[in-house]
Amino acid sequence: MTDQATDAIPDIEPDIPGKPTSASRTTLSHIMTHNDTNLLGTVHGGVIMKLVDDAAGAVAGRHSGGPAVTASMDEMAFLEPVRVGDLVHVKAQVNWTGRTSMEVGVRVLAERWNESAPATQVGSAYLVFAAVDADGKPRRVPPVLPETDRDRRRYQEAQIRRTHRLARRRAIRELREKRAAEGFED
Ligand SMILES: CC(C)(COP(=O)(O)OP(=O)(O)OC[C@H]1O[C@@H](n2cnc3c(N)ncnc32)[C@H](O)[C@@H]1OP(=O)(O)O)[C@@H](O)C(=O)NCCC(=O)NCCS
Repeated sequence: MTDQATDAIPDIEPDIPGKPTSASRTTLSHIMTHNDTNLLGTVHGGVIMKLVDDAAGAVAGRHSGGPAVTASMDEMAFLEPVRVGDLVHVKAQVNWTGRTSMEVGVRVLAERWNESAPATQVGSAYLVFAAVDADGKPRRVPPVLPETDRDRRRYQEAQIRRTHRLARRRAIRELREKRAAEGFED
């Protein structure tokens, strides 16, 4: 007789051990040169955004143990202009994990490359990365294990952002479906 309990294929996925926030936290540092400027002579926002994406991508790859792609980038804030000769530090960590996605929080700091004055914060951003397999399909990520009170606050705030992202996507999809049903072409 078949033992249903032991022969049944489990419908839940095996747990993946969690990883602490500090295991993948990363800082990327770069000195800004004349190649990085916009027409006003300060550093181009796109240069900063690339550094942010690079640092966050490294964190997402380290946390998930493999390839991860940027799914979205939001709340990119530029707080102060960045100048040629600034040493820019891009600090990134996993704030929150879902099933296959991770929110990475990034802080951008700048200091003069040849002065000992403390660095000031010049920007911040939140990015969602999806871990993918060799076929580009989403794969599971280890749960992040917040270690400090600050990590726990960031985790809770990331959950709020996640709720708003999903609600916004759903509301826009529903509006488009409604307009299509009403005969609008665009
Ligand atoms: C990101 C991508 C893998 C998602 O694939 P998909 O088939 O839509 O898969 P899913 O809907 O299951 O989404 C996977 C996860 O990403 C999250 N996600 C997908 N799109 C998102 C978005 N725009 N914002 C926030 N999260 C998003 C989902 O919520 C899900 O998370 P969860 O498993 O933790 O709940 C796919 O859209 C893709 O490959 N995009 C291109 C990525 C890219 O080229 N980036 C730039 C270069 S790295």
